[in-house]
Amino acid sequence: MTETPPSTIRPKTRVASGGFAYDAGALTCQGLSVRDVVEGTGSPCYVYDAEGIRERLGEIRSALSPVRAEVCFAVKACPNLGVLRTLVEGGSGMDVVTVGELERAWLAGVPMPKVTFAGVAKGEHEIRAALDGSHSPLAGEPARSLCGRDPATRGPIGLFNCESAEELETIARVAREVGVEAPVAIRVNPGVTAGANNKVRVGATGSKFGVTPAEALDLAERARGLSGVRFRGLHLHLGSQIDSMECFDEAFDVIARLMDAIEARGIPVEVFDAGGGIAVSYLGEPAPTDADWCASLRRAFGRRVRDGMKLIVEPGREIVAQAGVLVTRVRRVKRSGGRVIVVCDAGLNALVRPAMYGAQHMIWPVNAPISLDPIAPPDSDAGLERVDVVGPVCESSDIFARDWAMPPVREGDLLAVFTAGAYGMSMAMTFNDLPLPAEILIDEGRATVVRAHQTFADLMAPTAHALRAMDEAPQQAGPR
Ligand code: LLP
Repeated sequence: MTETPPSTIRPKTRVASGGFAYDAGALTCQGLSVRDVVEGTGSPCYVYDAEGIRERLGEIRSALSPVRAEVCFAVKACPNLGVLRTLVEGGSGMDVVTVGELERAWLAGVPMPKVTFAGVAKGEHEIRAALDGSHSPLAGEPARSLCGRDPATRGPIGLFNCESAEELETIARVAREVGVEAPVAIRVNPGVTAGANNKVRVGATGSKFGVTPAEALDLAERARGLSGVRFRGLHLHLGSQIDSMECFDEAFDVIARLMDAIEARGIPVEVFDAGGGIAVSYLGEPAPTDADWCASLRRAFGRRVRDGMKLIVEPGREIVAQAGVLVTRVRRVKRSGGRVIVVCDAGLNALVRPAMYGAQHMIWPVNAPISLDPIAPPDSDAGLERVDVVGPVCESSDIFARDWAMPPVREGDLLAVFTAGAYGMSMAMTFNDLPLPAEILIDEGRATVVRAHQTFADLMAPTAHALRAMDEAPQQAGPR
């Protein structure tokens, strides 16, 4: 293996993937006018740059090639099937945490051995579906109508990332019932605090995720003697939006020492799944690079990788965040109490990150008198107005940005909320009966609606049908 490359900090970091650019004040994606694309579909909607996604995946894979890491995209970051298929075609595996995400990964065409399954609450039905496709919740007619394929022929996934002693016993029992051996890694909580905020710091002491290193050692031993499972190695996911590589170094050190202890008991460690968590730039701030990540992994595990240990990584945000933009329309520009309040048709219902984490996304008009290159917040306020950008939801937290400097906008203008490709649509909700946004994938200069707007009929159907059934059969008591 070659020398560790020096760590690099990008000076003025872009907040959108390369497919997005301002051209004479108009936001384009792969040369298409974003305004034209969105006018054809309606707002709010997410616009994804497929080439940007492919490019990031390729960059990560090649940056991590010295440690031969397999990339398994964290489906939770952006589960749109168009996006997932783009990633599968680019050679990505998938990291899932529920059977729903597992089925999506399968629908997108990922080979099952390239799927890892974490999550603290795996149900027996989920474990069964991950071991044998005939137990898929889509088995039979649903799968036939969704994709024309049958999950029944599907074999076991590549790795269960087991989060507790109790879960290990359950996986083993279900695997024996199904008649296959489940490959397991033990998720280790290294007791390292890392991540942008408390809500995404999952590796700290007392977290609900994983087990302590001492418990992991016992579980490796237990797994060795347990029929139904095969101990393959360890898993770690430290947190999300981690901007310091030191936390990774610290956690990797804990893991490497644990591996020594496991091997000292004669148990080989064949796999290490290092999770995800690398920060991206939301406001032009510097972010760690994949070379930094690779260097950190190589310092801790280089020898083991040379000796044949397999490394897996599960980036989510890093791959899709900058390749997605939420486009929302200005409903009203309200001047009150000395403030200029730009009221939009999307708020925390479409993108909950600002309300939930205090996250700040860059916002700029889709058509503005000022072009940005690279797309990142400008250095000066000249010609800009300080506004509050808010959504339609009846929550005082429904604010995308306060005192945000932006070119003046009018009712009907479209705004782009950048770096929204990760944990945007996947966390959207229908609070206040606001239908879910549409999603558009732009690839090879062509825009495709990969998820239509939720219609009001769709929104009302489950309860309206229930009400109707109730009216039609009033005499029956109890749930039906
Ligand atoms: N692997 C596991 C087991 C995870 O739980 C996660 C994210 C990832 C990988 C991917 O992490 P990433 O590379 O995307 O940081 N909703 C929050 C982020 C929650 C992350 C949860 N787990 C946000 O919007 O900031």
